[in-house]
Amino acid sequence: MGAVDEVKNRTDIVELISGYVPLKKAGRNYKGICPFHAEKTPSFVVFPDTQTWHCFGACGTGGDAFRFIMQAEGMDFSEALRELAQRAGVSLAPPTPRSEAADKQREKLLDIHAAAAQYFHHLLRQSEEGAQAREYVADRGINSETVERFQLGYALNTWEGLKSHLVGRGYTEDDLVEAGLLVKKEETGSSYDRFRNRLIIPIRDMQGRVIAFGARALGPNDVPKYLNSPQTPLFDKSSTLFGLDLAKRAIRNNDQAVIVEGYMDVLSANQHGHANVVAGMGTALTEAQLGLLKRFTKNFVLALDADTAGDAATLRGINLAREALDRQAVPVPTAQGLIRFEGQLDADIRIATLPPDHDPDDILRETPELWPEIIDEALPVVDFYLQVVSAEYDLTTAKGKSALVREVLPLLSEIKDRVERHHHVSQLARLVKVDERALLMELDEGPRPSTPQRRPAPKVQPSAEAPPDEQKHVFGREEYSLVVILGQPEAVAAADDELLSLDLAPITANDFQRTENQQLFLLVSDWVTGETPPDPGGAEGESNSLVEYIITQCDPLLQSHLSFLLERWEALPAATPGELAEDLVDRILQIRGQHLQEEVASLRFLQDEAEESQNEEQRLHYQTLVDATKEQLRLIHQAVDQRSILGRRRAEAERFGAIRV
Ligand code: UTP
Ligand code: MN
Repeated sequence: MGAVDEVKNRTDIVELISGYVPLKKAGRNYKGICPFHAEKTPSFVVFPDTQTWHCFGACGTGGDAFRFIMQAEGMDFSEALRELAQRAGVSLAPPTPRSEAADKQREKLLDIHAAAAQYFHHLLRQSEEGAQAREYVADRGINSETVERFQLGYALNTWEGLKSHLVGRGYTEDDLVEAGLLVKKEETGSSYDRFRNRLIIPIRDMQGRVIAFGARALGPNDVPKYLNSPQTPLFDKSSTLFGLDLAKRAIRNNDQAVIVEGYMDVLSANQHGHANVVAGMGTALTEAQLGLLKRFTKNFVLALDADTAGDAATLRGINLAREALDRQAVPVPTAQGLIRFEGQLDADIRIATLPPDHDPDDILRETPELWPEIIDEALPVVDFYLQVVSAEYDLTTAKGKSALVREVLPLLSEIKDRVERHHHVSQLARLVKVDERALLMELDEGPRPSTPQRRPAPKVQPSAEAPPDEQKHVFGREEYSLVVILGQPEAVAAADDELLSLDLAPITANDFQRTENQQLFLLVSDWVTGETPPDPGGAEGESNSLVEYIITQCDPLLQSHLSFLLERWEALPAATPGELAEDLVDRILQIRGQHLQEEVASLRFLQDEAEESQNEEQRLHYQTLVDATKEQLRLIHQAVDQRSILGRRRAEAERFGAIRV
């Protein structure tokens, strides 16, 4: 048995989830309040038989133990796997010596950061030398609760304060240099404290471990105003969000993340009870940062200083936001799939503008009651830009109008949703008082956003590194579908086209219930759409094979599952690409039918329960859900019928053709 299966087998999902929400036995199953959305009546059900869970309320999510931990803790699959392995007492495959050494070094760097944070914090709170910094903190209106919550600190105005403290605790200068806390002089090779006479702000990862520091100068004219840790093995500023460890719960509960520009803005917001606020690291928002946030919400408000808001760099950030979100929703962009799926995108990105010369910290200190209004009044991205840009031109002149159109149209062409795009074109047409059709024509003739290139078919070979797994693996419809997809990734696009022509959604990761299958499917999608992260070791311009790509990207422990699936591919009878795609569609329809049927059964059970406890309102609620689910099931059955009729006609046509020849 692979490690993934072993972890699953040893995990009791009821026990696991009980650690997060109180569960009440209800028949064979367990019920509770959904931890992922706010609700009063429990519609979150745990099924011990299948070791799965499902929320029948507003969020409608569900899955296995991995999916639960991923969602509850905002972890990725690898993190969740390790977390569950630890809880279940399963030791995962012995790490390779190299990664073991790297893990040890990481641990050490984390220890160093924890010790440094404590040291700085102590100096701010207690030391005589920290008096000026305490005054600074007080002047800025930061209270002691905030100082504690963020573990703010002070770095002495000396060259070796931290250095001698940590060397005294047994860390070497080299380690401290690697941690970014000491700076090494090239000429002499000696090192000194990077942060001196500054207010220290610990920067943490999502789990709350200190991985870097931001350090603010105390004097108004000191430069740089902020000094930050350099890039280290722990800290990559483009994929870190300040405050996320404290904000993640509130972001999920409010279903909204507010993104600000500065550390101080986050501190202030927290102090004023607005916990769903995070900051970038003084750079434009990156895709990696949005990727972190996307685990908790799809609603973003960028609360930007007025001067930044008008800046072109911000626009880039916004485009990034769109892309990062689109990718999740459009695993495989077939032409039809894109349009349809984009229309269903429920992501929402808004921009709040602050009064000139004010940042969130200023607002929160001067007029905290305005903050909720400012966030509520944030404008959708495109509206915002129409407003900003149109203010810059004289729209009473033909010249001004045409300049505005030239500036705004390219942005509108980025909007993939037709209805949305059309809406904004009309808006623009009204603004410049020209015929909307003229604008539409210009839009369609202008350069379209390039669609990713589909890569050539991969050569599939079982990985040599992944040892064959003798023991039993689950091999169901999900796995079969995945085998076809791995062996012939193009089948996904063909199957999607077919599904869309049947008025059904294209294949997504949610068609797979087992998280390990979901993970592999997501990697295939990335690869097919060409949305793959750059390969640091790979030769420029040479495209990896799909399998190589998956091996480099997936958790090493998933490799045994992967190689099991690849062996199955080798064992499949020969088939044409068309046949494989048809086969895939059949399986996906079966999977969906099965999921829906299971859902109906669970809902019936909940309904019975409601009836027993004479809760008529709930019973009716479940009845509505049963009806909706059955309707979906009917559509699946209808599609299956349609396909079998088509299939018969096609076969007949072929026979007829054969007779004629
Ligand atoms: P701001 O200059 O807007 O800082 O930079 P702020 O948060 O309002 O700080 P105060 O209120 O003047 O103390 C925004 C962010 O840009 C980064 C920091 O992350 C800062 O929070 N920054 C700014 C630097 O990294 N270095 C700098 O010298 C300045
Ligand atoms: Mn500020």
